[in-house]
Amino acid sequence: MRRILVAGNWKMNLLQNQGAALSQALAGKYASCAVEILVCPASPYLSSVATTTRGSAVQLGAQNLYFAPQGAFTGEVCGDMLKDVGCTWVLVGHSERRQFFGEHDELLAKKVAAGLQHGLKVVLCVGELLAERQAGQTEAVLEKQMAGLAQVSAEQMANIVIAYEPVWAIGTGVTASTEQAQQAHAFLRGQLKSRYGEAIASATRILYGGSVKADNALELLSQPDVDGALVGGASLKADPFIAIIEAGIQAQTQKS
Ligand code: PGA
Repeated sequence: MRRILVAGNWKMNLLQNQGAALSQALAGKYASCAVEILVCPASPYLSSVATTTRGSAVQLGAQNLYFAPQGAFTGEVCGDMLKDVGCTWVLVGHSERRQFFGEHDELLAKKVAAGLQHGLKVVLCVGELLAERQAGQTEAVLEKQMAGLAQVSAEQMANIVIAYEPVWAIGTGVTASTEQAQQAHAFLRGQLKSRYGEAIASATRILYGGSVKADNALELLSQPDVDGALVGGASLKADPFIAIIEAGIQAQTQKS
């Protein structure tokens, strides 16, 4: 039974007091929770969110890391630093990193490996562009992006989550239909199966991301291969994010 994970990616939003208020609201509500909850603030605020969420069910993740263990890499942050400030998770390969910062699968494979080496759980994000979907290339693109797992052993897969985020659905208000989401997730699970076998494929969580909101979360999370949500815009305020967590709890109950 895969435990649903509801993750909030705050991106480059929320100043310290705003993030603290939001994380306090979440931590206050969820001392424990049937689903896993994760928030990913901007890196300057990881420590302060770690303080407000400590002892609650709200886990802390970073939005990015660099693969080198330390050294002369101005502006970058390594896995040890993320662990040091209280992160247990890191996002790798978000489409905005791919699109605006030129991150490619070979680099992302190194980042995934580095995150795991430093004891972090990794959410590897994949997803096709609108033009790629329209050209019928969705599966080919997803297959290629799964190369982010190139250095991940079967034993390490327990610390990997995949997030399917069709780029055309991110921040646009356009959500993939439940059929489109389920189809892509089933394809990704098939990819996991061919790489790691049936047991690991069926144990690995695959999140959906792209305009997840309070009113579409339950339908998406009820799909058999959708094991959680990676939420951008709707994770920036307590009420909509809590509504998505509650949808996750409901979906988890239905599935068990
Ligand atoms: P969105 O972002 O929910 O604002 O579409 C999702 C994401 O980029 O993770």
